[in-house]
Amino acid sequence: MDKFCMLSLLTVGLLHDAFCNPQVERSIEMKRQIGVQHVFGGRLALPSEFPHLAAIGFIRRFKLHWLCGGTLINERFVLTAAHCLEDNRYRAYGKAVRVRLGDIDLKSSADDAFAQQIKVLRRITHPDYKYPMTYHDVGLIELEQPAAFNQFVQPACLHTTRDIMPSQAQVVGWGLTEKESDAGAKKLNEVTIDILNIERCTVITDRIDKSLRDMLLSENLLDESMICAGVLAGGKDSCSGDSGGPLQINSTREGCRVEVVGIVSFGLGACGAVNTPAVYVRVSHYVPWIQNYTNILH
Ligand SMILES: *[C@@H]1O[C@H](CO)[C@@H](O)[C@H](O)[C@H]1NC(C)=O
Ligand SMILES: *[C@@H]1O[C@H](CO)[C@@H](O)[C@H](O)[C@H]1NC(C)=O
Repeated sequence: MDKFCMLSLLTVGLLHDAFCNPQVERSIEMKRQIGVQHVFGGRLALPSEFPHLAAIGFIRRFKLHWLCGGTLINERFVLTAAHCLEDNRYRAYGKAVRVRLGDIDLKSSADDAFAQQIKVLRRITHPDYKYPMTYHDVGLIELEQPAAFNQFVQPACLHTTRDIMPSQAQVVGWGLTEKESDAGAKKLNEVTIDILNIERCTVITDRIDKSLRDMLLSENLLDESMICAGVLAGGKDSCSGDSGGPLQINSTREGCRVEVVGIVSFGLGACGAVNTPAVYVRVSHYVPWIQNYTNILH
């Protein structure tokens, strides 16, 4: 099995990697057949429940493919994972070129009246993100036109403090498609998971094959800039294609409905499996970097 393929099995957002060998393709196919759902174990979202959710689109063979999620943080900017911006990961797809806001069901056109599809003006990758390393997996998309805020499109606030209270958060995503044969499909899902001690994820990264681990991590997971979250009993998780989307909490701050505390970065093992939490970017650590580009005050 080649390295990229192993990486793709282990890393959220990579399952469609064109470099996988047939055996791996088959095992992915099998997972789908036995009903792996994205935002595993969650429930469908209602219209206008997550108005800050963005789908990030890539063009391949003249068609748009929605492969990542993101969070609208003001009228011009979407926060996402660095690995969702560039073609180093979605090699066959090129760079992120479109953002879609205000849509729940990316496949159905029934709710399209509320959707806003906007061109990407600029992709900003955190300067310390070094693919395929998993550190500093944070990026911004600047929109060519400002988003128009309404009931279905609203920005989320940034979580600015290190502590996350309560110690549960919601992951939201479409579980966007990784295969053209499965194009589109997804309705927005949400699931509530536990914020865990970083060691819960470290024990898993310590178990993986050394050459792979060296590709993903030069040192341990970093508590200051990463969050470990999941449900240790299994059954609930973010999954491939949820990459870049928010881990969020309800806000008590005035003028904020929700705060984005994390960005879906990578998972280890099968989605929703027992004792396999996933790793999220810790948004509070990057607030100064985000503010510098967006002028967001909170
Ligand atoms: C946030 O609030 C909504 C209702 O507005 C509720 O349905 C949801 O469960 C809350 N989420 C958390 C993580 O408490
Ligand atoms: C702040 O943003 C400007 C562009 O708006 C950029 O040129 C500069 O490198 C950024 N500084 C940091 C520390 O990120």
